[in-house]
Amino acid sequence: MTLACGIDVGGTKIAGAVVDVDGTILEESRVESPATDVEAIEKAIAGLVADLRTRHAVERVGIGAAGYVDAGRARVLFAPNLAWRNLDLKAELEEHIDLPVVIENDANSAAWGEFAFGAGADVDDLLMVTVGTGVGGGLVLDGELYRGAYGVAAEIGHLRVVPDGHLCGCGNRGCLEQYGSGSALVREARTAAAGSSQRAASLLERAGGDPASITGPLITAAAQDGDPFAIELLASLARWLGAGIASLVAVLDPAAVVIGGGVSEAGDLLLDPMRTAFESHLSVHGYRPAAEIRAATLGNKAGVIGAADLARR
Ligand code: BGC
Ligand code: NA
Ligand code: ZN
Repeated sequence: MTLACGIDVGGTKIAGAVVDVDGTILEESRVESPATDVEAIEKAIAGLVADLRTRHAVERVGIGAAGYVDAGRARVLFAPNLAWRNLDLKAELEEHIDLPVVIENDANSAAWGEFAFGAGADVDDLLMVTVGTGVGGGLVLDGELYRGAYGVAAEIGHLRVVPDGHLCGCGNRGCLEQYGSGSALVREARTAAAGSSQRAASLLERAGGDPASITGPLITAAAQDGDPFAIELLASLARWLGAGIASLVAVLDPAAVVIGGGVSEAGDLLLDPMRTAFESHLSVHGYRPAAEIRAATLGNKAGVIGAADLARR
């Protein structure tokens, strides 16, 4: 039995877990992500692994990194929401950790986790969409993780959906991520609250009167309590995503689209309007069979579970 450590490095947090061959988590822990400090991120990852190893016989380390990862699964070419630029993360980490380290994209890791042990266990072809700080994509085609020619397939967050739209962390404008991510959700809520929009009054009150204290989980909680503005903010996000997914489904024809990431904790408040938008944007809908949009069953654990499993292959 080979135990592997899976680490999910996002723009907000770094999560680590010891994962068994059947996808079971034996122990997990997490720390805040020092997103702008490359060395601090490495130290935080190495620290998580070192700590977990004191209690478990870990033999491999898989990193799910929120950025463009090269075909050699070693180098992060670019991370829109972290400070990584053409960084040999595998080499850097192997200096601190005396175990083989595999670098994979975070959404690819989540796709693999859901395919191997979660919401996609019954299909051969799936598209994973992670909705968090960024919008991530992962593809499993014919039972294999699809990485493309250069390792950077399925970067769906950077599909341009609005010409001359919001500036994105990737340097372009109008990317799906700027309309369909948790960051977009928070940006819209804070803008409305700072402009003292009456619609945002209840959100602002929850945030103690400070627009900057409005967070994704706060918006989700407000929506769950029936706040119409919070519900509409989530629905707007969902419409962008549903339309983007319709285009991707037209090309790829997966059996399932699995929705994960922090914002997916909003559940049907996100999934219902997403399904409606998906159906209305997908050509020939009603005449063709089409992917089912499903909630991730591993929740925010998909990334660590998938990264650990990929490190064993
Ligand atoms: C990055 C992806 C990542 C996604 C989710 C995007 O901005 O380009 O590599 O998978 O965010 O973290
Ligand atoms: Na990806
Ligand atoms: Zn972008």
